[in-house]
Amino acid sequence: MSREHEIPTARSASYEADPAHVHRVLLLYSGGLDTSVMLKWIQDSYGAEVVCLTVNLGQPGEDYAVIEGKALKLGALECHVVDAREQFAREYLAPAIKANALYGGGYPLFTALGRPLIAKLAVDYARDSGCDTIAHGCTGKGNDQVRIEATIATLAPELKVIAPVRSWQMGREEEIAYAREHGIPIKGGAEATPYSIDDNLWGRSSEGRWIEDLAQAPEDDVFQLVTRPEDAPDEPEQIALGFERGVPVALNGERLELVELIERVAAIGARHGVGIVDHIEDRIVGLKVRDIYEVPAAAIVLPAHQELEHLVCTIHQNQFKPQLDRQWAYLVYAGLWWEPLRGDLDAYMDEVNERVTGTIGLKLYKGHARVITRSSPHAVYDASLASFSQSGGLFSQSASPGFIELWSLQSRMAWRLRNSE
Ligand code: ARG
Repeated sequence: MSREHEIPTARSASYEADPAHVHRVLLLYSGGLDTSVMLKWIQDSYGAEVVCLTVNLGQPGEDYAVIEGKALKLGALECHVVDAREQFAREYLAPAIKANALYGGGYPLFTALGRPLIAKLAVDYARDSGCDTIAHGCTGKGNDQVRIEATIATLAPELKVIAPVRSWQMGREEEIAYAREHGIPIKGGAEATPYSIDDNLWGRSSEGRWIEDLAQAPEDDVFQLVTRPEDAPDEPEQIALGFERGVPVALNGERLELVELIERVAAIGARHGVGIVDHIEDRIVGLKVRDIYEVPAAAIVLPAHQELEHLVCTIHQNQFKPQLDRQWAYLVYAGLWWEPLRGDLDAYMDEVNERVTGTIGLKLYKGHARVITRSSPHAVYDASLASFSQSGGLFSQSASPGFIELWSLQSRMAWRLRNSE
């Protein structure tokens, strides 16, 4: 092996592993090229044992038996496959829904929400399997390294981290050569450079290739989840989403567990071309990057939740909460899931969402999901007050001129001062 593929010895953070102390490594294993090469490379370069962990967060189309078999064949001591979908939905997606979580106005944070859970599971399994080090396949340019390493350093100061992709300086070509040399099967062939994909229950992202050319409109082959809106059915479809305390619990009147509800909503949205986001994003490590997202469930559930929240909250709550929503999304995007401020914000989200119960109807049609009906026992809404017909004593139209007089007082005074010369 050439010198530049050797293990790094200079460390810049307290949680980075000293190569002399790497004996058993918990590898976050996806079965893809990077982590398969890593599985062999760690054994060869560190002379260490490797235990693999593969986490199912609802990414479609994975064959976990194949991944496990591949890990064992490449020399893993064991390969744990964990189905964490339910925990992901309950502990990560439900709070995100309560916080209307979107970063940069369009990204519903599916990857950002998944990483702290994946890293927490890595800590749990590393401890159980007697590992001293955790390895992951993130590059040095992305947000995911921040989320994973911040989680490990927070939850398990005794564990160390290695991030081979960040230091081994192999490009795709060299990784493929390494794989060939070491009998590592390459999924999907070695010819075309694939998109960089990450996905789970809550959405899917694509990066790389033409996506890096900002002037290039999306090529159709990037959309593997959502139907192109122009190919979506010509007939609209109406759905009803029922919420209890801010969390969706029913689809078209049928009560469902959150995982299944999200999967079903995603399938309906995907069929109607809903949830395509073409987004420029400010990464936490300073880069600005373009992402193509397919988020059919989030593009339906979030606007429905927000609408219901608006209905049951007062004008003052509705003015205030988006500021906290934004802060919540930023913290989570930035890899600070375990920061106490997130818990503080969650306490507020939970309090407000106590009353976010009811049903929202939406119409899905060729790429759009539009709210068309709302109902809630807690709606701060009285049709007889809002009506254009005469209402009774509770709303006194004759009181309005007095209100306007005082409401506009300072603004009128200021206007006069500025316009009197
Ligand atoms: N830009 C998104 C984020 O930072 C998605 C990242 C996807 N990760 C990946 N390894 N492909 O959360």
